[in-house]
Amino acid sequence: MSKRRILVTSALPYANGEIHLGHLLEYIQTDIWVRFQKMMGNECHYVCADDAHGTPIMLKADEMGITPEELIGAVSERHQADFADFSINFSQYHSTHSDENREISSEIYNRLNKAGYIKTRTISQAFDPEKQMFLPDRFIKGTCPKCSADDQYGDNCEACGATYSTTELINAKSVVSGATPIEKDSEHYFFDLPQFEQALKDWTNAGHLQDEVSNKLAEWFEQGLKQWDISRDKPYFGFQIPGTEDKYFYVWLDAPIGYFASFKKFCDGNNVNFDDFCGKNSDAEMYHFIGKDIIYFHALFWPAMLMGSDFRTPTAIFAHGFLTVNGKKMSKSRGTFIQARTYLDNLNPEYLRYYYAYKLTAKIDDIDLNLEDFKQRVNSDLVGKVVNIASRCASFIYKKYDKTLSASVIERDLYNEFVTTGDQIAMHYEARNFNQAMRLIMSLADKANQYIDEKKPWQMSKVPGSEQEVHEVTSFAINLFRVLMTYLKPVLPEMAKQAELFLNIDELVWSEVRSPLINHQINKFKPLMTRIEDEQIAKVVESSKQSVGTEKEISKKEENNMIQIDDFAKIDLRVAKIVKAQSVEGADKLLQLTLDIGEDSTRNVFAGIKAHYNPEDLEGRLTVMVANLEPRKMRFGLSEGMVLAAGDGESLHILSPDSGAKPGMKIS
Ligand code: 2FM
Ligand code: ZN
Repeated sequence: MSKRRILVTSALPYANGEIHLGHLLEYIQTDIWVRFQKMMGNECHYVCADDAHGTPIMLKADEMGITPEELIGAVSERHQADFADFSINFSQYHSTHSDENREISSEIYNRLNKAGYIKTRTISQAFDPEKQMFLPDRFIKGTCPKCSADDQYGDNCEACGATYSTTELINAKSVVSGATPIEKDSEHYFFDLPQFEQALKDWTNAGHLQDEVSNKLAEWFEQGLKQWDISRDKPYFGFQIPGTEDKYFYVWLDAPIGYFASFKKFCDGNNVNFDDFCGKNSDAEMYHFIGKDIIYFHALFWPAMLMGSDFRTPTAIFAHGFLTVNGKKMSKSRGTFIQARTYLDNLNPEYLRYYYAYKLTAKIDDIDLNLEDFKQRVNSDLVGKVVNIASRCASFIYKKYDKTLSASVIERDLYNEFVTTGDQIAMHYEARNFNQAMRLIMSLADKANQYIDEKKPWQMSKVPGSEQEVHEVTSFAINLFRVLMTYLKPVLPEMAKQAELFLNIDELVWSEVRSPLINHQINKFKPLMTRIEDEQIAKVVESSKQSVGTEKEISKKEENNMIQIDDFAKIDLRVAKIVKAQSVEGADKLLQLTLDIGEDSTRNVFAGIKAHYNPEDLEGRLTVMVANLEPRKMRFGLSEGMVLAAGDGESLHILSPDSGAKPGMKIS
């Protein structure tokens, strides 16, 4: 069969959070599939990127006093380190905030616009008058209009499940500033999805989707397709829409285009033709692995955008379910919201790769990581079955037979069974039925162990004259081990490398399993994998709890508003004289204050009070500051403290000491 040309993607992780075990389900699934394709001799490229745009990333950077570029740079490094340590072997890992993505996004938009698929109209949306920005629903909180639960998001209530519009929310507040949102008009750009209704219906029924997904789409078609709002007003971290002054692409517009952008970068650096894979007339295959929560974007918006801009559409979308841990949604308080790094600090990544492979099917059902089952499954299958075959037989060859495998294969039938089962295993890998593939491999491992148990080379070797048989039996077992490790290589690339070293071969190659190793010298056996111990898992859970334990305590204290006297004593409050007050270029809310706190010492503080004071009126005034607040690096400089002010969300009043107080006096 001729070599297939395949482009594969996993969903792009957001650049404002860490990779966790939920993300890894997808990256491991994709990586196994890609490694399998490569073992089959296909040309397969696997690309991904950080999803770097949008309001949450912009605000997080703001909060940290750094630029969004600095934030996404640091996060990208951590993401890539996590992926590398889990052996996720991307051909290219890029960012949606890249030149390639800006170019392709503009190109796609321009083509859609030219073809009449972009419409504009004015809509009214919640606006934060203090922060001067439109607020996405998740950045508005208030009381649920249905059940009166407090602290609910702008679009739905977690307490009663009701959905509503932000205008219905009672006592709505901006999460960003605490201000009460107002309604404000602005012109928005829409992608005219309804124009693609028939083309999308045809596409979704042409075998590109799993059955469950097609059913879901049928429901959406029934509800009717709507125009998709693809613009956001400034301030927004993203790409400006061509031909506009202050409109930006909504993050979800340029995210899937990020697949192309990452692949473009790969093509440029590796002499691969981009159009061969992405162009309208491509005969290559293109697959997107995604979670079931983002089907709408990948099975409706994305193919329609591609159709409308003359690119190829995906060969298939492979959706998977969510990860639960111990049967429940991952939970910070239970310690089951496990970050990749916490796992890596305590456990071998290949344990998880195997366990996920053992659980994964081509369906979109949720996958449960039961930590007890995880331990037992890995210990019993990998350590107890696979590694055991080699560890029971290697030392015979190494010590007694000059490190060399025998000249013939003693059990031809059993060997052939191992070889022919490879076709079924390959079929299951191809169909993403990794669970079936693992079961078949383990049933072969059981057969290999039964064979060794029956032959008992350790007893046989005590019988004079049985040297040749012991040699053949143990050599045979090592050959079976070689076949098993070849089949497991897409799942366990590191262990396969160790096995290659032990077997003294360049590479375990799928098509070579039919030729056993004969008269072949091997290396000394080193344990390929150790058992998972309870304590390792306990540590992962404990550390995952710790990272939120403190947060929990804080919120508890916030709940009852009580602090201890020691807590209060920690705050160094001082009388400060404002010697200078000035505006800060590029910051609408801030004033830069120079504060005299006695002993010839001054402090530089950025205070969010510009809307309430003229700088001149402040100069010469006394106020109160927190003098031992950890200095904070902001975009405009270092802020070395905080001035105290009273306010109700609308007006704001900085505190002043009574007459007679002097700069530097301590407040207690
Ligand atoms: O849901 C998410 O995490 C998104 N960042 C996925 C984007 S996938 C693609 F379209 F880029
Ligand atoms: Zn409610």
